[in-house]
Amino acid sequence: MELGRSSKTHRICDGPNVVDAESVRVTLSMTAAERAALREIAKARGMTVSGLIQQWIDERCDGAPAVADPRVGVNVRQRMDGLVMLGRLGSEVAAAAFFDPQYRGLLDKLDYGNEGARQIGRASLDQMDDEMIGAFVRELSRVVCRSGYVFLWVDKFYLVEGVARWFDGTDLKSVDLITWDKGRLGMGWRTRHQAEYVVVLQREPLHAASTWRDHTIPDVWQEKVSKSHPHSKPIRLQERLIRAVTQPGELVVDPAAGGYSVLEACVRCERNFCGCDIEFGEEDGDER
Ligand SMILES: C[S@@+](CC[C@H](N)C(=O)[O-])C[C@H]1O[C@@H](n2cnc3c(N)ncnc32)[C@H](O)[C@@H]1O
Repeated sequence: MELGRSSKTHRICDGPNVVDAESVRVTLSMTAAERAALREIAKARGMTVSGLIQQWIDERCDGAPAVADPRVGVNVRQRMDGLVMLGRLGSEVAAAAFFDPQYRGLLDKLDYGNEGARQIGRASLDQMDDEMIGAFVRELSRVVCRSGYVFLWVDKFYLVEGVARWFDGTDLKSVDLITWDKGRLGMGWRTRHQAEYVVVLQREPLHAASTWRDHTIPDVWQEKVSKSHPHSKPIRLQERLIRAVTQPGELVVDPAAGGYSVLEACVRCERNFCGCDIEFGEEDGDER
């Protein structure tokens, strides 16, 4: 019998024990003979059946959620195509996800004609077109659990021209928006840009009170970042968002992780991370 662990744990009471819903699912998926055998083992060890299953899950998973495919690592920086990684994840394994596409919005609009010199770090990265961004978002809507969140980073040009086409036809709906004030001036033909945006998407069914625990996060967030990547995102903001919508030990996904700011945020709040970047990462995920 194979055991996996959904990242979404619903804690329930079972007599004197508190077990998570996964052990109950395991019990239900057993044959009568397996259940009888398990009862015998539990009796011999002086344990309840649910206690034994819980211990078994904890040992097998070593504290980290199983992501089913051994070619996908948890809590590592792996060099891999994000769509390949997402394709290897089961449905509804993640409690939340971040997606920071390598979009060209700002570079195209500013088009100085000399971005190779001025923007060498950004321009040399693999860019994603609309179709590819849509494919990532569709995969994220599958991988994230029901009522889970996808935090989508966008610049002002995408924000104004609309990003809904990326999640049209999925179970994701936009439910909020956060402006990140970077505290330093960027480029601009007219105003100089100083902000980026997080579109907060929630997978249906939409619930606010039961899924978002921290109501003190302002929708304009100021944080300066030290640049470990040309597009580094604010770790403290991402940590607050992760804490608001997930529980310790749950899985957070980032399929275009860049400088791995989401991994750093997960480490700070004891969540598990599954992410990759096509260019950045110590481990070559495809060779695993
Ligand atoms: C905007 S950056 C992400 C920055 C990241 N959020 C951070 O805080 O450092 C986007 C990243 O997407 C990566 N990328 C582009 N195409 C990709 C693909 N197909 N799969 C995975 N990563 C990809 C680029 O290499 C780039 O590092």
